[in-house]
Amino acid sequence: MRIIGPDELVFGVDDIAACHDFLTDYGLIAGADGRYEALDGTAITIRERSDDTLPPPLRTASMLRQTIWGVEDQATLDAIEAELSTDRTVTRHADGTLTCIDDCGFEIAFRITRRRKLNLPAEMINSPGAAPGRAPNVIGANEDAEARPRTLSHIVYFTPDMEAMSKFYIQRLGFVVTDRFTNTGPFLRPQANLDHHVLFMIQTPEYMQGLEHLAFHMQGPTELMLAGSRMVKKGYESFWGPGRHKFGSNWFWYFNSPLATHVEYDADMDLHDGDWTERETAMSAEASQMFLFENVDKWSPGGGPPSDG
Ligand SMILES: [Fe+2]
Repeated sequence: MRIIGPDELVFGVDDIAACHDFLTDYGLIAGADGRYEALDGTAITIRERSDDTLPPPLRTASMLRQTIWGVEDQATLDAIEAELSTDRTVTRHADGTLTCIDDCGFEIAFRITRRRKLNLPAEMINSPGAAPGRAPNVIGANEDAEARPRTLSHIVYFTPDMEAMSKFYIQRLGFVVTDRFTNTGPFLRPQANLDHHVLFMIQTPEYMQGLEHLAFHMQGPTELMLAGSRMVKKGYESFWGPGRHKFGSNWFWYFNSPLATHVEYDADMDLHDGDWTERETAMSAEASQMFLFENVDKWSPGGGPPSDG
């Protein structure tokens, strides 16, 4: 099934103003109707928790109300409708979107993707022995550079039944396992996306069910560090990072958010195709990151020891 990835995540929140500030400071572009878009049109949508146009909430503290998956074409939508209608109600809406509930009680939707094709430069570096990434006189350290999330990358669910949930996405929707931590995950990519993962899950008690984090792809490690540093400067709380994961190789920096989920910047994720053989290892701090940094105040040699700020 030609599913591409998460197109949009819909939340019912308590504090619209705080969420607006967070999402715009994070770099998303505020549009109409509570939508906050990345450069390709993938988005977070926020509404009041009490908004009765939203799908029903989970019976937990999670504010996530719906995950909307983008698919390649109508044939994929038809195939999803035929497959999932065999054992649940699938509603086809006027705009063609399909909605239903997955095997763990999450509200999900499918539509032909609304993401726009991006044509943007990668982060360019100069590396001895290789042709220059940047021409002479093109500066790499631009503190005023815009840092905008390019596309919605992946989501991680807290689920009470990891086994049932992963089976649903693999067996019913054709997701492919790239790697797995023993008894956690697996890392999954859909068939129309080579990213190492768009979906991961962590087994939790039922009362914790919800969205553990969401992530958007940035241009590269430098833009990720610039964007994350700006978030810290604005007073947002870093949750984990910056660092680099092992599985997926993506650089990461996670922040606490008023959407009751962690929100991550990521950059430079591995791509995989059908030739890949999945890896498996026990979950540990060592396995989940290659390295982890801590952000500290700026200082300069000659300006006093770092502890003096
Ligand atoms: Fe992540």
